[in-house]
Amino acid sequence: MTSLGTPVLEVADLRVEFRTDEGRVPAVRGVSFQLHRGEVLGIVGESGSGKSVTSLAMMGLLAGSARVSGSVRLRGTELLGASDKALSRVRGQSIAMIFQDPMTSLNPVYPIGYQVAEAIRAHHDISRDAARTQALQLLDAVSIPNPAQRVDNYPHELSGGMRQRVVIAIAMANGPEVIIADEPTTALDVTVQAQILDALRSAKERTGATMLLITHDLGVIAGQADRVLVMYAGRVVEAGTVEEIFYTPRMPYTLGLLGSQPRLDMRRQRLHPISGAPPSALNLPSGCPFAPRCPLAAPVCEAEEPPLTGAGGHLSACHFSDQLVGLEPGDLFRPVSQDSEL
Ligand SMILES: Nc1ncnc2c1ncn2[C@@H]1O[C@H](COP(=O)(O)OP(=O)(O)O)[C@@H](O)[C@H]1O
Ligand SMILES: [Mg+2]
Repeated sequence: MTSLGTPVLEVADLRVEFRTDEGRVPAVRGVSFQLHRGEVLGIVGESGSGKSVTSLAMMGLLAGSARVSGSVRLRGTELLGASDKALSRVRGQSIAMIFQDPMTSLNPVYPIGYQVAEAIRAHHDISRDAARTQALQLLDAVSIPNPAQRVDNYPHELSGGMRQRVVIAIAMANGPEVIIADEPTTALDVTVQAQILDALRSAKERTGATMLLITHDLGVIAGQADRVLVMYAGRVVEAGTVEEIFYTPRMPYTLGLLGSQPRLDMRRQRLHPISGAPPSALNLPSGCPFAPRCPLAAPVCEAEEPPLTGAGGHLSACHFSDQLVGLEPGDLFRPVSQDSEL
């Protein structure tokens, strides 16, 4: 799907550090990626790996305690350091964001149709009636049943999944170039998750937007993304196509994530999760931050943080990437007992 030419969004060496009473928190440590038109890029990693801070930094949405550096270009225009006025225009029009909790985006005191219509009217000089007609079409496009009836409902009258559809309709309202969805299905149960992913896909197809799909769940990425970034401790530790990440991972952390999740693939019925927890960003180990949990760790891993390197588009940050060829999660990580799998 990657088209050549200027990327829609280009992030280079993005760094975010929070100043806190406990000390400096390097939450994002040099993240770079490009998004091309029509592409879906997945970002996956355990909680605390820096996924949300990356997306908030791109949009200028972090608090004053955050020091942000690097570059975020939307069609060549630098967003880092842009004025609030310029950024709020970008946020409404060029880049739409969808969060885990739809109520962070919806106003509880207005009917949903009104909110979709106002999102349209914020950027287009059209009448209330025309905006309402378009709002109905958008609610239909995200598969809200009986939109003509639902349009006057308040957010609290809808289920979580229906509210998230409304947020997706609002995101579509202005034909954004980029949709950033941060854990859009995490709060929902599995069947609703699949429906929301369908709605996101139709939003992407209808608007032609590129999408950044952020999740801790590799299962969400599988059917959706073209390329994937795996994040750990604030940096990208593996990048590749979805096939490369799922079938030939080159970083033990990625293999561990694959082993942590049930696969449709019959060979991987038993779960082999990674033991331990990610390091605190306040106290990163000096070498590879995954070394304390890594079955392949050797002295060099504690001494030196490996750079992100590789051939073609498949990059990994591991001193022993070559040793991963042909390994299954169960070759490195211990199985959980059958009882605890249920
Ligand atoms: N406002 C903040 N002040 C200090 N640390 C923060 C702040 N926001 C996030 N962090 C830290 O930044 C790191 C990355 O957080 P986040 O991007 O939210 O993770 P993810 O979205 O991958 O779960 C975490 O260690 C988190 O504690
Ligand atoms: Mg997050």
